[in-house]
Amino acid sequence: MSNPIRRIAINTGGGDAPGLNAVIRAVVVSAIKRGWECVGIRDGFNGILCPERYPEGGVVRLTLDKVRGIAHLGGTILGTTNKGNPLKFPVTMPDGTTQEIDRSDDVLQFFAKEGLDALVSVGGDGSLTIANALHRKGLRVVGVPKTIDNDLDKTFTTFGFDTAVDFATECLDRLHSTAESHQRIMVVEVMGRYAGWIALHSGISGGAHSILIPEIPFDIDKVAAKVRGRDKLGRMYSIVVVAEGAQPVDGHREVLAPAEVGHAERLGGMGERVAKALQERTGKDARVVVLGHLLRGGSPTSFDRLAALRFGAAAVRGLDNGLSGVMVSLAFPNVDYVSLEEVAGRMKAVPMDSDTLQTGRDLGICFGD
Ligand code: F6P
Repeated sequence: MSNPIRRIAINTGGGDAPGLNAVIRAVVVSAIKRGWECVGIRDGFNGILCPERYPEGGVVRLTLDKVRGIAHLGGTILGTTNKGNPLKFPVTMPDGTTQEIDRSDDVLQFFAKEGLDALVSVGGDGSLTIANALHRKGLRVVGVPKTIDNDLDKTFTTFGFDTAVDFATECLDRLHSTAESHQRIMVVEVMGRYAGWIALHSGISGGAHSILIPEIPFDIDKVAAKVRGRDKLGRMYSIVVVAEGAQPVDGHREVLAPAEVGHAERLGGMGERVAKALQERTGKDARVVVLGHLLRGGSPTSFDRLAALRFGAAAVRGLDNGLSGVMVSLAFPNVDYVSLEEVAGRMKAVPMDSDTLQTGRDLGICFGD
C-alpha cells in the first residue's frame, strides 16, 4: 500500500479549453476536504523546469480562496503550454541550436523534494502521454481528459468540446442570413486538429450544406455540385464547414507553420483553398470565416462545467482510492477510470459508421465523397 496522500499537485497542459478552471476548483476543494494540501504548477511543467521565469514562484499553493468563483471562467488560472514536454524539453545549446532533452527525472526529484505525493494532470493526448510516462517512473498520477477537439480515445467526450461546438453552431446560425442575402458561399474553417468532431457536430447542428472532415478526403467537384444543386432548387446560397485538418483526395492538408522542436505543426488555410476552388467552379461569390481560437474561449457550457467538475472530483477520489496511471473518463452515465496505457498516443477519429455522420447524410449534407 503506497504512503497516505498529504500533498498533491495539479497542472494544465496543451491548448486551453473552457472548463479547465472548473477542474482546478473541483480538485482543490475535494483535496482540501480530505485534509490534503494542493499546489498548482504553472504552465504545464514549466513552473518546475524553468522556475526562473516565475518571480512569484512556478508552483503556487491553491487555497479555497484561490479557486472561489472560477468554475465558469474560460482559460486556466495556472496557465498552460504546448511547448514544455518534460520528456522532450526544448533546451537552447551553446551553439544556438535547440535540442529536446528528457527532464522527467527533474520532475520526480521536485515532487520528492517538495513532499508532493501525487499529480492530477489535465490535458489532451500530449499531456496524458507525459502523465503515463511519469506514472511508469513511479509518480502517482491521474489524468483528466481536456480538449476542444474531442479526439481523446476511451472517453465519451472531453470537456471543452461542447462549448466549442455551441459557439461554432451560433456562428453558423448567424451566417445563413448574410449568405442568403448575397447569394454567397460561406466557408467556415474550424479547429479540431486531425479529427472532424467539431466540424461534424457544429455543421449538422448549424444547418451546413457541406461538411469536410479529415476522416473523409474530399472531392471538391462533389462539393461544387452540391452548391449548384442548391442553386437549381432556388436556394442560392451555401454554408460549407471545413475542418482545419481536412484534405482533398488528391492533395494534402494546409499547414500554417511546420512542426518545430517542442511544437506540433500548425494547421490552417484549407477554408481559403476550398472557397477559391468553389468560386472558380460555380462562379459564385465565396467568403471565408476562420473561427480559430474563438473556439477555445468563453465560459464553459453547463455540460462542460459539470463534466469538468465531475472529472476533477473523480480524479481526487481515484487518488484517494490508490489509483495511478489512469485517466478519468466519461462512460455515460458515470465517470469511470481507464488506463493511461490505453489512451496515450491514440486519437479518436470520427467513426465512418457513426450515426451522427449517417444523420448528416440522411439530411442531404455533402461530405465531399
Ligand atoms: O488541440 C486544441 C487546438 O485548438 C487544435 O484544435 C488546434 O489545431 C491547436 O490546438 C492550436 O494550437 P495553438 O493554440 O498552439 O495554435
